[in-house]
Amino acid sequence: MGPMVVVADRTARWRPARLDDVARIAGLSNSIHTLFPEREEIFAEKIRLSPAGCHALESDGDIVGYILSHPWRRHSPAPLDSLLGALPANADCWYIHDLGMGPGARGTGAATEIAGRIIRAAEREGLPVVALVAVAGADGYWRKLGFGEVVVDGLAAKLREYGADAVYMELPLAAGGEPRP
Ligand SMILES: CC(C)(COP(=O)(O)OP(=O)(O)OC[C@H]1O[C@@H](n2cnc3c(N)ncnc32)[C@H](O)[C@@H]1OP(=O)(O)O)[C@@H](O)C(=O)NCCC(=O)NCCS
Repeated sequence: MGPMVVVADRTARWRPARLDDVARIAGLSNSIHTLFPEREEIFAEKIRLSPAGCHALESDGDIVGYILSHPWRRHSPAPLDSLLGALPANADCWYIHDLGMGPGARGTGAATEIAGRIIRAAEREGLPVVALVAVAGADGYWRKLGFGEVVVDGLAAKLREYGADAVYMELPLAAGGEPRP
């Protein structure tokens, strides 16, 4: 049995993700998303391209949660396990590629805390929406935060590799001129 990780306390805190976290974030992510493993370089690239959107939840020296997000184009979820190359010059959304909590870190509110910080930062950037693909039943979680499903032509094919229950979702921001749901 591995060491017990207790995060429902004040010692767990979000901090910017670093390149030397990549092996641990990839290990945690690939243990959560066993059907969609990604190579370490995929994680490293996101941290390099979008440091403001990538954070690690550290508790007693362990990484027990992470978020990876970056400016992107709406309705264009990137293929899994592939490099982005560069961020788009004409970004029209902030894209949450993944928010993952280790089993011992769930239900602590830490996920919602960092999602809220990312959403507020996207709003300050003047972007109209935050976008993501919810997998494995996580759409219920995102609906609670105000995200709604968006269906557009051509999206279903891009979503297929994310699993049969993948849902593309957006949260309209005040900057988009649309009312919040
Ligand atoms: C989705 C995830 C990040 C949520 O983390 P969490 O630690 O449960 O979130 P928080 O503690 O901040 O929030 C808990 C609240 O969300 C709700 N919630 C969590 N998962 C949910 C789900 N799948 N559907 C509906 N509600 C959900 C809880 O019931 C709780 O609600 P309450 O505050 O009304 O009691 C976490 O379950 C996870 O890492 N899942 C696996 C990876 C994943 O699917 N990530 C999303 C990829 S799109």
